[in-house]
Amino acid sequence: MGLFDDKFVAITGIGGGKGSEAAVQFAAEGAHVVGCDLLHDGAEETVALVRERGGRITSFAPVDLSNAAESAAWIDAAAGAGGGIDVLYNNASQPRFGSIEDLSIDDWDYVMNNELNLVFYACKAAWPHLIRSHGVIVNVGSIAGTRGVEFMPQNAHGTAKAGVINLTQQLSVEGGPHGIRVVCVSPGFTVTPSTEWLVEGGGEAFKNNIARIPLGRVGRPTDIVNAALFLASDSASWITGINLVVDGGATVLG
Ligand SMILES: NC(=O)c1ccc[n+]([C@@H]2O[C@H](COP(=O)([O-])OP(=O)(O)OC[C@H]3O[C@@H](n4cnc5c(N)ncnc54)[C@H](O)[C@@H]3O)[C@@H](O)[C@H]2O)c1
Repeated sequence: MGLFDDKFVAITGIGGGKGSEAAVQFAAEGAHVVGCDLLHDGAEETVALVRERGGRITSFAPVDLSNAAESAAWIDAAAGAGGGIDVLYNNASQPRFGSIEDLSIDDWDYVMNNELNLVFYACKAAWPHLIRSHGVIVNVGSIAGTRGVEFMPQNAHGTAKAGVINLTQQLSVEGGPHGIRVVCVSPGFTVTPSTEWLVEGGGEAFKNNIARIPLGRVGRPTDIVNAALFLASDSASWITGINLVVDGGATVLG
C-alpha cells in the first residue's frame, strides 16, 4: 500500500530539481503523477526515471505556467488524464535576482509572474477539481519569504515567496468549507541543478550562512519532498494553512 494509491497528483516543474524528485517519490507511493514544465527534455528525463521504477506518469511540456490560459489548459488536461486532481503540488518557479538599483521593472514583473502569479493561476484552475476530490494544494514557498539576507539581492524573489505563504493561508480559509487543505513547504538552501553553483561560487556571506546551519548540511531535494508527502497525505488531515519550514534549522539563528 502506498500513501497515494489511485490518487492523481499534479506536479508543476518536473523538469529538474525538486519537481523531478517529487514526481519520483509520489509515483513510488502509488500516485498517478501528471506533471508539466517549460522544458520538454527535462520533463522527459523525469518521465523515464518514474517509469524505470514502475511508476505512473503523464507529462505535458512545454507549458508556460506564467500564462494563465496555458496553466488552465494544463490543469484541465491533467484532470482529463485520469479521474480529476487529488493533489496540486505547485513546485515550479523561476527567480531573477538584483539589488533595487539593478533589478529592472521588467525583471520584477517577470519574478511576480513566474514565482507568484503562476501559483495563483494553477490554484484557481484546479479549484473546481479540488472541490470535487476534497483535495490538497501543496505550495512551495521559501525561507526567503520571511526574511532578508546579505548574500543574495532577492527583493523580488522574497516578496513573491511571501505572497505564496500568505496565499496559502488565505486559500486554506476559503478551502476549509470544501474540505480542501492548502499547505506550504518553505525550503532552506537545497542543492539542485539551478543552485549547485552557489556551493563553490557563493562568496563569503553565503558560505558563512551555510556554515551556521544547525544540522550541519545543506538540503537535498528528498528532504523537501518528504515534508510534502506527509502534508499531502491523509496523515495530515487536520493540518491546513501551515508554512512548514524545512531548512536544517537555518532560520532559528535569524
Ligand atoms: N533550491 C533551493 O535552494 C530552494 C530554496 C527555497 C525554495 N526553493 C523553491 O523550490 C522550488 C523548486 O526549486 P528547484 O531548486 O528544484 O528549482 P529548479 O529551477 O531546479 O526547477 C524548477 C522547474 O520549474 C520549471 N519552471 C519554472 N518556471 C516555469 C513556468 N513558468 N512554467 C513551467 N515550468 C516552469 C523550470 O523549467 C524547472 O524545471 C521552487 O519553487 C523554488 O523557489 C528552492
